[in-house]
Amino acid sequence: MNIRVFATPREWTEDDVRGSVAIVIDVLRASSTITQALVNGAREVVPVSTPAEAGELAVKAGRADVVLGGERDGKLIEGFDLGNSPFEYSSERVNGRTVIFASTNGSPSLVRAKSAELVTIGCFNNYSAVTNSARETGLDISIICSGRNGKYSLEDFVCAGKIVEGLMTPHNSIANDGAQGSFDLFRYYRSQISEVVKHCYHGKYLSSLGFDADLEHCAKVDIHQVVPTLIEGKIRLPKANGSS
Ligand code: MLT
Repeated sequence: MNIRVFATPREWTEDDVRGSVAIVIDVLRASSTITQALVNGAREVVPVSTPAEAGELAVKAGRADVVLGGERDGKLIEGFDLGNSPFEYSSERVNGRTVIFASTNGSPSLVRAKSAELVTIGCFNNYSAVTNSARETGLDISIICSGRNGKYSLEDFVCAGKIVEGLMTPHNSIANDGAQGSFDLFRYYRSQISEVVKHCYHGKYLSSLGFDADLEHCAKVDIHQVVPTLIEGKIRLPKANGSS
């Protein structure tokens, strides 16, 4: 099984991930928030690339029947119900509901990754569950870092490196420099995940908006034992998934 890490959205095409299991990472905050929404009982999260698309889909589905979530510049989008803080996706707000989700970087990665054999969502919060489930498929693994506005994000790359470490077995091989580099970087930051999440560029930006609690939350390892999975355009928890 070959393990590849793509550090930025420009590094991969739909052909690069075809046939593999994709793990889409956006530690701050889309992958952490989507995971939280599903743990709190959301029926499904539908990722779309733009707020306009989210609006159109909401009208088609019946605006009152769905929750519109996401962000632009980290902030609530006008006319949306929820922003992109995991704390907004409480059971009171999302239990049993469909969330249509448009974030700047995480959602477009998810939309593009659909050529993969299987698309899962990974973050520190569900590290072991997503790593184990990818290993069990026996497929090649593409770890996709969503980055920030097309550029590299330290927190995503360190999380990717942690997943690479968790995937290493005598049968798995590192198949690109992204996988090797993220693995090496994770070994450097192993005991400093919270510091990485707080002091990375996007962490500092979110802190300036008052989202310090989100940073703490998104740095927590293994608080959820679930594997959000994209099936036919909808992210759900497969039946076997539990939640903490
Ligand atoms: C994104 O998808 O761009 C992010 O999750 C941005 C954010 O922190 O809200």
